[in-house]
Amino acid sequence: MKLLLIGSGGREHALAWKLSQSAQVERIFVAPGNGGTATTDKCENTPIRDSDLPSLLAFAQAQAIDLTVVGPEVPLVAGVVDLFQAAGLPIFGPVQAAAQLEGSKAFSKAFMQRHAIPTGQAGVFTEFEAAADFAWSLDSLPVIKASGLAAGKGVVLPASREEAVTVLRQMLVERSFGEASATVLVEERLTGPEVSVLAFCDGTNLAVMPPAQDHKRLLTGDAGPNTGGMGAFAPSPLASPDFLAEVTRRVLRPTLDGMAAQGTPYVGVLYAGLMLTPSGIQVLEFNCRFGDPETQVVLPLLESDLLEILLACLDGRLGEVNPVWRGGAAATVVMASGGYPGAYATGKPIQGLAAAEAEGCTVFHAGTALAAGEQLTSGGRVLAVTGVDESLSAAAKRAYSGLSHIQFEGAIWRTDIARTHSG
Ligand code: AMP
Ligand code: GLY
Repeated sequence: MKLLLIGSGGREHALAWKLSQSAQVERIFVAPGNGGTATTDKCENTPIRDSDLPSLLAFAQAQAIDLTVVGPEVPLVAGVVDLFQAAGLPIFGPVQAAAQLEGSKAFSKAFMQRHAIPTGQAGVFTEFEAAADFAWSLDSLPVIKASGLAAGKGVVLPASREEAVTVLRQMLVERSFGEASATVLVEERLTGPEVSVLAFCDGTNLAVMPPAQDHKRLLTGDAGPNTGGMGAFAPSPLASPDFLAEVTRRVLRPTLDGMAAQGTPYVGVLYAGLMLTPSGIQVLEFNCRFGDPETQVVLPLLESDLLEILLACLDGRLGEVNPVWRGGAAATVVMASGGYPGAYATGKPIQGLAAAEAEGCTVFHAGTALAAGEQLTSGGRVLAVTGVDESLSAAAKRAYSGLSHIQFEGAIWRTDIARTHSG
């Protein structure tokens, strides 16, 4: 089969790496891909942006692509699945109406409330004064969330109510995130460790993946600003079989049933971002896709053929395949460019990739570009170095021993990935 994979980050390199292992896969075009996908077996980059839906469709038609796999949320929320389906092309991911679970936090909150899925109390606002009044009325400090997609930057945890009001003014009046912050949620502040539970979904059936935890803060010891994720590990020691059964019963199952009942069955990966609060599980967010960097630890634990699972989802036969996961654990450490998540330099040569792989690691590329045979940095998060082993500590050790061989100017990373379990 010929595949088209949309996206360019570490998640997409992990997807390309895993899909390329399927005997049924002949070729994978990655749009636009990165330096890692450029050098992965069976893969070839094609320079089409993930948001350029007409060009993606034209490419898939011209190349007679058998299956398109969508990595990021932007094309899903823009309706890439609907577009491809209308043209009769198989594509893995939720339709636009189902992708609203991530694309509109207002939709998602109302959906959860309607289906009694546990989630923090929140008000949804388009008017600044009403939002500010509500923020003052909450018992706890509020969390302010832009309803639309904001590249992971749309959630603010203000340190005071005054700051909350400032953030509300920026979002609702000054439109700091454009249309994405024309509607905001003002949500009660919850506390507790966070776990990501991802599931393959075929519209009716679901198959849960090993639960993962990511490290969002930039610096060792959970200090510094929030980032897209500086590392991750799976399975999470917090997620017992009972916990997963509860998440399935109270969160995933009602979401699938609710989506089917409203005529938009959920096909794709459903990602529930959960907090384990003192009073139980609460959903912080849904994502409509694989996580990044969670994918870089989840897929290395999958023993089954990923392509077969994706095809089963499209055919509504997920109930017939039983994804097999290896025992042990995986940890990934992100190497980022100095300055990230602020401004950073690019174009720095990367050394030691082969030596890291020789330690038994898998190095997933995020922000890299291949130029004249050389791997150069091209983004904030540059690499995700994954180790798999029999325990979480052994997996982390393996990742760090691989990482010790890799160099590029200004590289930064955390030294405590998978070693502090609070996320
Ligand atoms: P979200 O995009 O909604 O997952 O939010 C991003 C991050 O903000 C989460 O991973 C949490 O760390 C934090 N967060 C979101 N909602 C809340 C909440 N209600 N209380 C405390 N922290 C939250
Ligand atoms: N790791 C968080 C996300 O993928 O949204």
